[in-house]
Amino acid sequence: MAKIAVAELVPGMIVKYDIEDRNGRVLLNQGAVIESHHLRILKMWGVYEVDITSNEAVTLKQGENAGENSNYDSAAEQVNSRFSRSNTSHPCVSQLYKIALSKAMESSLSNLNDIIPDFSQHEDYDLSSGSNEFLTLEDLINEDDKLPVLPDIFSKLMEVLENPRSNALDIAKIIEKDQSLCAATLKLVNSSFYGFSKKIDNIYNSVVILGTKQLGMLALGLSVVKIFNEVESQYLNIKKMWQHSLGVGICSKIIARMADCQDYNKIFVAGMIHDIGKLVILKKIPLKTALIIKEVWEKDLFVLEAEEKYLGFTHCQAGEKFCTKFKMPDIFADIARNHHNPQNSQFPLQCSVVHLAEVIVNAVEIGSSGEKLVLPLNEYCWEILSLSSNAIPVIVKQLQVEMQTSLEFLS
Ligand SMILES: [Fe+2]
Ligand SMILES: [Fe+2]
Repeated sequence: MAKIAVAELVPGMIVKYDIEDRNGRVLLNQGAVIESHHLRILKMWGVYEVDITSNEAVTLKQGENAGENSNYDSAAEQVNSRFSRSNTSHPCVSQLYKIALSKAMESSLSNLNDIIPDFSQHEDYDLSSGSNEFLTLEDLINEDDKLPVLPDIFSKLMEVLENPRSNALDIAKIIEKDQSLCAATLKLVNSSFYGFSKKIDNIYNSVVILGTKQLGMLALGLSVVKIFNEVESQYLNIKKMWQHSLGVGICSKIIARMADCQDYNKIFVAGMIHDIGKLVILKKIPLKTALIIKEVWEKDLFVLEAEEKYLGFTHCQAGEKFCTKFKMPDIFADIARNHHNPQNSQFPLQCSVVHLAEVIVNAVEIGSSGEKLVLPLNEYCWEILSLSSNAIPVIVKQLQVEMQTSLEFLS
């Protein structure tokens, strides 16, 4: 029979072939009977699917779950409506659907109210009117007034990281000049995430231990958070938007590792800033942005569709222009532009990683980027990544763990 996901294994199943870790070490022999502690070991060694001799126990388990939970009907209704524009027969989407369903069954309270903006004071605002908060894409980017401010440290870090001759001292010098970044970096390297037994108390040592590239990119990610902190909105929940971006950054890094896509740290930052265009638009035309989101929620649109309809341009175009204006590396501008259509990207693999990350983060509701419905998975992206659908539950689990740790040191 076919491989099944480790998340769906139950004790008593029999292993069909030897199970090996990535280095070829045998973890479980052919014919072994799965015991509960094996499940933890398999996950720990990054095994996400195995061949077993029969799936009887899996069928039983799914049947039991559906029958015993009285929340099932209302959870299914909620999740079906969120996935109404997704192809749930696709193996990857089907995994996301199952995860979303079990999450919805666990939580009886919906957190949607945190996302929907409060429009009560602006009922009479005409969305289609060009007279209110109208601007072109060029105006949006060219008028520096009210453009989100990219911290100085971002370009300095970028410069050093792009220079192959830069060393740990160069990075440390930059981080040390920024108090909040310095504090966040030390908090990060001393967090349980890295698990060092000895306290690391200076930036230079942090850079040496974690590596110039890795720490530089993490510092870059932290400096991106500052852009969010500086944008305010009385209509939209910026914290949720920020969590969405961080979630996509982290998830991109996890997928990049699995898909053997090099330069994880760069992909992490690309994931964090993929929706930067939304912040640019929000800061310039806050009321209209909020009302666009209102349309998204009332008419079951995707944000992209509502932007095209009411602005004539999208956050993808705005994001690309913003990255180019601030001379960010080409890959950031490209991913900001193409993350909903990775087939158009000059960096198709990296862009597909960020696209899948965004679909996952959106489906499992980590933060919010204003979307009501789960974003459709791009078929091209799934093909190019060539992942097994059984990797999805593993990615989601890892994402949830890393997200929790990151929120600890960033908040
Ligand atoms: Fe997004
Ligand atoms: Fe987007």
